[in-house]
Amino acid sequence: MATQSIADQLEQLKLEQYPNCYPQLNPFDIYRSHITTLLQPITGVDASIIYNALQWTATLDKGDLVLAVPALRIKGKKPDQFAQEIVAQWPGSDLVETPTAFGPFMQFFFKAETLTKTLVPMARSLGPDFGKNPANGLRDPSDPSKGSKRMVIEFSSPNIAKPFHAGHLRSTIIGGFLAKLYAGAGYDVKRINYLGDWGKQYGLLALGFERYGNNEDLEKDPINHLFTVYVKINQDVGAEKDQAEALIKEGKPEEAQKVKDNGLDEQARKYFKAMTEQEPKAIEQWQKFRALSIERYKQTYARLNIEYDEYSGESQVSEEAMAKTAAKLVEMGIAEESEGALIVDFAKHIPGKAGKSLEKPIIRKKDGTALYLTRDISELLHRAEKYKFDEMIYVIASQQDLHVKQFFKIVELMGHKDLADKCRHINFGLVLGMSTRKGTVKFLDDILRDVGDFMHDVMRKNEDKYKQVENPEKVADIVGISSVMVQDQSGKRINNYKFDMETMTSFEGDTGPYLQYAHARLCSITRKVNLSNEELASADLSILTETHAIQLVRTLAQWPDVVQNTLKTLEPTTILTYLFKMTHSLSSSYDHLKIVGSEPEIMKARMALYDSARIVLSNGMRLLGLTPVERM
Ligand code: ARG
Repeated sequence: MATQSIADQLEQLKLEQYPNCYPQLNPFDIYRSHITTLLQPITGVDASIIYNALQWTATLDKGDLVLAVPALRIKGKKPDQFAQEIVAQWPGSDLVETPTAFGPFMQFFFKAETLTKTLVPMARSLGPDFGKNPANGLRDPSDPSKGSKRMVIEFSSPNIAKPFHAGHLRSTIIGGFLAKLYAGAGYDVKRINYLGDWGKQYGLLALGFERYGNNEDLEKDPINHLFTVYVKINQDVGAEKDQAEALIKEGKPEEAQKVKDNGLDEQARKYFKAMTEQEPKAIEQWQKFRALSIERYKQTYARLNIEYDEYSGESQVSEEAMAKTAAKLVEMGIAEESEGALIVDFAKHIPGKAGKSLEKPIIRKKDGTALYLTRDISELLHRAEKYKFDEMIYVIASQQDLHVKQFFKIVELMGHKDLADKCRHINFGLVLGMSTRKGTVKFLDDILRDVGDFMHDVMRKNEDKYKQVENPEKVADIVGISSVMVQDQSGKRINNYKFDMETMTSFEGDTGPYLQYAHARLCSITRKVNLSNEELASADLSILTETHAIQLVRTLAQWPDVVQNTLKTLEPTTILTYLFKMTHSLSSSYDHLKIVGSEPEIMKARMALYDSARIVLSNGMRLLGLTPVERM
């Protein structure tokens, strides 16, 4: 009967245990283990070498797994010939066809029936967990009592009162994805948003608020209101500068100096000084700006399925900690005085090009203020203490590559190489041409609203379908967000891409709407067929013999391995490329694997297969941060 449980099936196979082999979670691990067991006596090669040499194939016509015979490291035999010999001695198997030798490669094709009977029940019983593996994040896979690795991921990190630019957008999307990837792999993930919320400009913002702000607008829309205030007060600063310059030109340097002394810039400096000294009035105002902005950010992040464990920020790095860091840098001879400022001349600490390329960054300005770089160093040390992390990822644009290299290196020079080694910079390229339809202000909310509106227009063009959607605004909003996210995650992270509403919202091509449509279609079939879980579980899967069914099963079986591979590449495109391959295979199946009007047994089996596809698609979309829609 087809309903034999996976545990029973695995029991009968008597698979051997290999490191990183999880046959209950990953169909491919069953096959790797099984093939290894069969090849070991034939080849005489160490099982772990065989196991690791079994690799994916680029396309299914090259097999499900391939073995490059040279990887077995057998001396004195020609790989081509040895491949032939192994094939000749293949003992036969219920799971795998007799391998084919192809030059120095051996191609393994899984037997369709057993694969289907493994894949479908596994995907359906694991459901949202299919593709996850909580053992990946264990400190010691052989001893779960030692707990999971802790992974800190810092991402998004916008600046209060300033536009949420493309760099923040990408950091948010990529960081959200990585957090989900590691959480699914069993890591103990801590998500940090490191806000730009400190510095003289926030003193200026407070002054601006006195002139142009009001509490009502602040409460209603803090992000836009603070930005408006910030723009206005900066115009005033600009006007003052012009005035002072004009006075100098007129030969009135004393008057120019007066303008400067009483000017906004100087006032902002004083205001900020009061903030750093925790003067109640100054700090309260700023705290309110910060708290209200965070509340608003939270709502927006929720639309992208993102939550943070901590809203940290430049303001949260203590002056004492930075003073200590600076003192230590001087004491250790890493930092030195230069024209009143404190700098690190890397060329003196690291020989050759490597040192020179890190330049001579400033640690502390002449007037004693600490900088972005110093904050990052102190914050890293603080996080190490607070979170005792095993690894930390910074998701920051490649424009800041040098900055990140500098602060990692300084931490290393300070004697914390172990700590620096735990940190990793995940960088990404630029977004070109990102502007909103209504204007130039670029806040995340504006971007999402604009794409949602655009999507709504796209949907309205198909009148018949549009009428059937229950809540078109909501659907347009979600699908619009998917458009942005899929476009962002389509290429390799490091590549630049062009922000293009037209392309990203199209239902044709590899887009967010295409994936959403594929998911909604599966949900619609599920509703129409309306079979119970038990009925689907009792399906006779051996009748799924059509080429299209088999291709789809083989593709679906790859899903957990795709996730494993993504843990290596850390590229969202690894997931997306797979999802598009899978959905293409799915959409070409519909004509060949019809459900409506089929015999009840065929209906059950095909529905169980489609249900597995829905699970994989939904899991993949959620991993990317999308919200799969059920109707559209
Ligand atoms: N707020 C910064 C900016 O907008 C990004 C912060 C990145 N994170 C960090 N630890 N430096 O450029």
